Order: sequence, then structure tokens, then C-alpha cells
Amino acid sequence: MANVLVIGASGQIGKQATVKLLDAGHKVLAPVRSPEKLSDIENGNLTVVEQNLEDDFSAHFDGADVVVFTAGSGGNTGADKTIMIDLWAARNAVNYAKDAGTPKFVMVSSIGAGDPDAVSSEIKPYLVAKHMADEHLINSGLHHIILRPGTLLNEPGTHLVRTDMPDNKDDAVIPREDVATAIVESVAREGSDNIITYLFKGDTPISQIF
Ligand SMILES: NC(=O)c1ccc[n+]([C@@H]2O[C@H](COP(=O)([O-])OP(=O)(O)OC[C@H]3O[C@@H](n4cnc5c(N)ncnc54)[C@H](OP(=O)(O)O)[C@@H]3O)[C@@H](O)[C@H]2O)c1
Repeated sequence: MANVLVIGASGQIGKQATVKLLDAGHKVLAPVRSPEKLSDIENGNLTVVEQNLEDDFSAHFDGADVVVFTAGSGGNTGADKTIMIDLWAARNAVNYAKDAGTPKFVMVSSIGAGDPDAVSSEIKPYLVAKHMADEHLINSGLHHIILRPGTLLNEPGTHLVRTDMPDNKDDAVIPREDVATAIVESVAREGSDNIITYLFKGDTPISQIF
């Protein structure tokens, strides 16, 4: 059992990850700006607190065995929120984790975050934010697992993935549920080596990746 701080627990991946973490017997602390989004989860191991990630959220890190960052500003907000959440909140989370001595940090990043210059599309600013957040985590010295999923799908997970880049762009996709499962596997993983991995739909059990 681990004490897991899930940042972005009310999100589409975050909520599924929270439920799976609780089912696996972990304790979850969920600082969210809309606590009612988690009110249907009845589990004594879940603690929900109100928190806007644009404010100081350092108070939640003491005692966390693992920090999971799966927050994001989403596609319907502007560059201001991309900077404040995908970059700055992620950067702050890394700093808070380092100050608290958190043993492990799991970051939900994105395909394209490794090399934003390789992408010439309107999502490049988002990828730059993700890139800088990932770099900050890598350079922090914290033990880290960085997940870089492809385009997210709202369909049932298969528990099967691939981590090599598909030739066909249409194959660079993954159900959100499988990213949630990858988060749970990352939390449970005992190895202390750092991991940065793509995640796409594939044919390898997620448990074999971690
Ligand atoms: N879309 C894609 O195809 C894609 C691909 C690769 C990676 N990703 C990444 O995957 C991650 C999760 O995706 P998702 O689909 O689960 O996202 P989502 O459903 O939009 O969830 C985002 C989470 O961030 C929270 N959040 C945003 N601003 C906040 C603030 N100011 N204060 C507190 N919480 C805040 C949201 O809270 P509320 O519930 O209150 O809004 C929500 O919990 C993101 O980091 C995203 O960048 C996305």
C-alpha cells in the first residue's frame, strides 16, 4: 500500500487512475478544484480536498510515497492556462515533491513532448510546456516515470500497449483507461531506474512494460 498524491484526479485519466489505485489498496489524496466530481467514489482510503493548481499546493506533499501528475489545461483553454497548468503547475509539483522528499514521481506527458520542434502544428506551445515540465522533472534528481501517450481515446482499455512509435499516425492512439492502468503499474513498480516511455495501443501487457 502506498500513499499516492494524484494531481488532476478529477480528470478523465485521473479519475480512472484514482479508482484503480483505490481498488489496488492504495491511499489516494486528491486535491481538486471541483470535489463534487469525485463524490461518487465511496472509499475510506480516498481523501478529497479543494485546491486550484494555480495557487500554492505544496501543503499536500508531506507523506506522499508517489506523486502522480495527470492535470492538464485541456484543449478548450488558451495559452495562459497551458502555461499555468501544463508548465507551471507541473514545475511546482516537481519542486514541492523534491522539498518533501517524495520517493517517486509519475508524470503524464504526451507524444511529441520529447522534441516539440519536430511538430509544426497548433499544439506546439502545449508540447513546449510539456517538454519543459518533463525536463524539469528529469533534472530534479527525483526518481521519475514519464508516460508519453499518443492521442487519447474514450473507449475501454485493452491492457495491451506498445512503446515504439507506430509508422502510421492513426495507430498513435491509446484508451485513457490504459494510461490509468499504466499509472497504477508505475506506482506499484519496485525498480528504481527512471523510465520515459511512449504508450500506444499494442499487444504487450502493460504489466510487462513496468
Ligand atoms: N488529449 C490527448 O490526446 C492527450 C494526449 C497525450 C497526453 N495528454 C495529457 O494527458 C493528461 C490527462 O488528460 P485527460 O484527458 O485526463 O485531461 P482532463 O480530463 O482535461 O483532466 C485535466 C485535469 O486537470 C485539472 N485541472 C486543470 N486546471 C486545473 C486547475 N487550475 N486547478 C485544479 N485542477 C485543474 C482538471 O480539473 P477539473 O476536473 O476541475 O477541470 C482535471 O482534473 C494531460 O496532462 C494531457 O495533457 C493528452
